[in-house]
Amino acid sequence: MRSQSPAGPDPGPTPTLSAQRVSHTFLSETGALPVLVDVSFELARNEFVCLVGPSGCGKSTLLHILSGLLPPTSGMVLLDDEPVTRPRRRIGHVFQQANLMPWRTVLDNVALPLELIGQPRDEREAAAQAMIDLVGLDGFAATYPADLSGGMAQRVAIARALVAGPDVLLLDEPFGALDALTRDLLAEELLRIWQAVHGTVLMVTHSIPESILLADRVLVMSPRPGHIDAVFPVDLPRPRTADMLHSPLAGELARGIRGAIRLGAE
Ligand SMILES: Nc1ncnc2c1ncn2[C@@H]1O[C@H](COP(=O)(O)OP(=O)(O)O)[C@@H](O)[C@H]1O
Ligand SMILES: [Mg+2]
Repeated sequence: MRSQSPAGPDPGPTPTLSAQRVSHTFLSETGALPVLVDVSFELARNEFVCLVGPSGCGKSTLLHILSGLLPPTSGMVLLDDEPVTRPRRRIGHVFQQANLMPWRTVLDNVALPLELIGQPRDEREAAAQAMIDLVGLDGFAATYPADLSGGMAQRVAIARALVAGPDVLLLDEPFGALDALTRDLLAEELLRIWQAVHGTVLMVTHSIPESILLADRVLVMSPRPGHIDAVFPVDLPRPRTADMLHSPLAGELARGIRGAIRLGAE
């Protein structure tokens, strides 16, 4: 929850995760590919931010850097005041593909992060079951990934990212591979889940309506090399419902965001 300072004026929202002039260049035999240039932004505590931008502009690369999986060529990432130089439990990452382990049940997939840190079986199973219920998969704990739909597999991936209680959740087009109806439903589910866990979220999406439905702010990235081209605050009231997307304000925002997205060469 956002809190007011007891003394004096509200100092403003506290940043949780911030990117400070993050740049990245991939080196290969064929030369250097600059992918990100001077990307800077802050995520306020419990803020939901969506990141949109043309394909290939560096969104996934940025998420890898933010979660400590990839060191940036220059610049840095701070979690509170600490540099992020390796993956850590306080930052959860959901990839575009669910990447579940096919030989493990839903319960054992979700419990995996807790197993890796040596939490006793009964505790980790209880925590995993609570997350499975939260993402709406009660009754599927004993199911194997092969028997899940794409939408269900992504719910499992979200539960697995949430089970260790991260402060920040990074979501990389989590609904990108799903049909339109399923993704609309999951976006509304995600709103409900986010309201239950009260965390900070950065979500990459290519759906402008989805970004307006979910986000407090929408960041627009330029074509590669990516940087933040524009920021749109979404001043729609919460709780949000899909009906709000028909409001004049949402229409105006959608036009603004669409206009700000420049298409790259890819
Ligand atoms: N490991 C890598 N090595 C070399 N080039 C990469 C690597 N990962 C991504 N790229 C390139 O970097 C660019 C940005 O990729 P990515 O971050 O996946 O973009 P987005 O997620 O916005 O679609 C693309 O041109 C991609 O081919
Ligand atoms: Mg990507």
